[in-house]
Amino acid sequence: MKHETVLLNESIEYLNIKPNGIYVDGTLGGGGHSELILKKLEQGHLFAFDQDEYAIKKASKRLENYSNKTIIHSNFSNIKEELLKRNIKKVDGILLDLGMSSFQIDDESRGFTYLKDTNLDMRMNSNQTLTAKEILNTYSKEELSTIFFKYGDEENSFKITNEIIKNRPLNTTFDLVNICDKVNYKRKGHSAKKVFQALRIAVNDELKVLELLLEQSLGLLNPEGRLVIITFHSLEDRIVKHFYKDNSSIDIPKNIPIINLPKPALKIITRKPILPSKEELENNSRSKSAKLRVAQKNRV
Ligand SMILES: C[S@@+](CC[C@H](N)C(=O)[O-])C[C@H]1O[C@@H](n2cnc3c(N)ncnc32)[C@H](O)[C@@H]1O
Repeated sequence: MKHETVLLNESIEYLNIKPNGIYVDGTLGGGGHSELILKKLEQGHLFAFDQDEYAIKKASKRLENYSNKTIIHSNFSNIKEELLKRNIKKVDGILLDLGMSSFQIDDESRGFTYLKDTNLDMRMNSNQTLTAKEILNTYSKEELSTIFFKYGDEENSFKITNEIIKNRPLNTTFDLVNICDKVNYKRKGHSAKKVFQALRIAVNDELKVLELLLEQSLGLLNPEGRLVIITFHSLEDRIVKHFYKDNSSIDIPKNIPIINLPKPALKIITRKPILPSKEELENNSRSKSAKLRVAQKNRV
């Protein structure tokens, strides 16, 4: 299935593209956001990252007629190092459209779906060694239940962990789904949805890499450069929201007289997250949980 780009016009509008600026798309995917950025650039340049080889191949084809781009097969958490290798120290905007693309979910062999009996994989980067299977079969009771509870909000994380340990080794996705069916037999939604989300976050260390990118972004952005981030679940959204909040105010002890008040690093542009329009929600069910938040680097 073709990947339908989420919040396309809204996010590119908020990126506030200068035709000669330098931009980063940290999540190239099918290349939908990147293509619109490239259409708006004249002398500027786009650096687009993806950790998935298939996405790199597919988007490279889509964008083959644009010359002012560099496609980088790497995790966006390596942003500073990868840009430095190419002599880039500052950029005018960074866009992230987190999560997975439709073609990753649709490729059964990658193990992201609980609807098919397939490999317990879930790696976005197939060069990585850690898989869902290794986590399920080797992590301790505490580690596993923490993953399910913290990353999946799974109420029955202990019961599911106990069953996993009893039934080791797990070999396919349905070995895990059967356990979730048994424990979560009363649940209205799919019994394994939360556990699969949690595992995917753990396999790809998704929250940590987001934090790493955010930390580096402050040093990379030019004044008035923007961070435009689309998230798909509350854990990611919370990280982005708090990062913006923490870096858009400065705590000064009450009784200290200040002559020149220092400026915080960021200004929040979207006080409330931007959500997909009714029309987008009708046309693309994947946009249902999307939230867009934008912040701008202050001039000091
Ligand atoms: C939702 S898709 C992006 C879709 C894209 N914006 C479009 O319009 O087609 C997310 C993509 O980001 C990639 N990705 C997710 N986390 C990443 C990370 N930490 N580093 C690099 N790529 C990542 C995934 O492999 C996937 O291809």
